[in-house]
Amino acid sequence: MLLENKVALITGSGRGIGRAIAQLFAKEGASVFLTARTEAELAATVKEITAAGGKAAFVTADLTRAGDAEKLVTAVRGKFGRVDILVNNAGHYGPVVPVEDYPLEEFDKVIAVHLRAAFLLSKLVLPEMYARKSGVILHISSISAKNAYGWGSAYAAAKAGILGLTRVMAAEASRQGVRVNAICPGPVTETVMSKELGNTLAKKLGVSPEEQLKGFLSSLLQGRGQTALEIAQAALFLCSDLSSAVVGQSLNVDGGAVFF
Ligand SMILES: NC(=O)c1ccc[n+]([C@@H]2O[C@H](COP(=O)([O-])OP(=O)(O)OC[C@H]3O[C@@H](n4cnc5c(N)ncnc54)[C@H](OP(=O)(O)O)[C@@H]3O)[C@@H](O)[C@H]2O)c1
Repeated sequence: MLLENKVALITGSGRGIGRAIAQLFAKEGASVFLTARTEAELAATVKEITAAGGKAAFVTADLTRAGDAEKLVTAVRGKFGRVDILVNNAGHYGPVVPVEDYPLEEFDKVIAVHLRAAFLLSKLVLPEMYARKSGVILHISSISAKNAYGWGSAYAAAKAGILGLTRVMAAEASRQGVRVNAICPGPVTETVMSKELGNTLAKKLGVSPEEQLKGFLSSLLQGRGQTALEIAQAALFLCSDLSSAVVGQSLNVDGGAVFF
């Protein structure tokens, strides 16, 4: 097993990509700590993981609130003693509107959940990782950080900010035994966020959700979306010793959408 005796904190893990990461990491021997706002989804996922023989626990947290992030890290330490792996995955897309129509408070919320929470949780766990001279932090960014899609300014800015944060953290942490990397997923069409975005875009473009999706997927080299499991497998690589010399990188898991 690739993550035996490791403790992994995975945010946004009640559903979607975070849930797939939690399930795979638990299968690989990690004790996984889950968090999001929706208790029922977290409880169901923890139940599935423990029923399969894994070790898992959760607390609810709204990661737009700094106090919740602090309580979360205290809760993981209380349950499993430490944090070896942090996966910053939680987030929502936000309004699908052009910049001139984007409400400022919504902009702040999107930045807060993706970028500010990733910064804050990293800040909270890095000292213990440095003390042990070991640890891994993985940020979930997006191809929106690298491509030019209209109507998602805060999301793209947050995801691009995450890549800057990844590089700075790698510069600071690599000689202290801590690796920091990012994943840029393409369209993971099975998740709530992806479905909601597809439906909204279809409505705005005056096409059916099926047509909108087909058009987008046809722009990818593989001509299909990615699965949450495919993102989780890349996360497993980046959070295990298989990637022991990979630092400060953003790995595109996108079926061939962006090439830098
Ligand atoms: N799906 C895609 O195509 C795609 C592509 C590129 C990148 N990504 C990124 O992948 C990550 C996961 O997205 P997903 O597609 O799996 O979406 P999802 O199924 O909607 O999952 C998002 C998770 O984040 C949690 N979350 C949202 N706001 C939160 C908050 N304020 N505090 C705490 N938790 C919060 C959600 O739970 P609650 O609502 O219960 O809080 C949920 O568990 C996101 O960072 C997203 O930007 C997704």
